[in-house]
Amino acid sequence: MIVCLCHVVSDRLIRAHISEGARTVEDLGEACGAGTSCGGCQDQLAQMLVESKCHAAGTKSACREGCAARTPQLASAAP
Ligand code: FES
Repeated sequence: MIVCLCHVVSDRLIRAHISEGARTVEDLGEACGAGTSCGGCQDQLAQMLVESKCHAAGTKSACREGCAARTPQLASAAP
């Protein structure tokens, strides 16, 4: 799936850059240009960064704390 339409950057490439150490939207922009033109994809880039931190933590509670702040559906499902 293409995440950044301006630079034709896929979710796979974004995840690869996150795995290689990108920790901020700015890091991703430097790595592949994503988010550096119209900015329309920056929320999704930020969400992918949060999700990667939750997955790295390996607990659902981490996901609820981190992802719920950005995802209303998860926030309403959190205990
Ligand atoms: S869609 Fe990513 S910068 Fe425009």
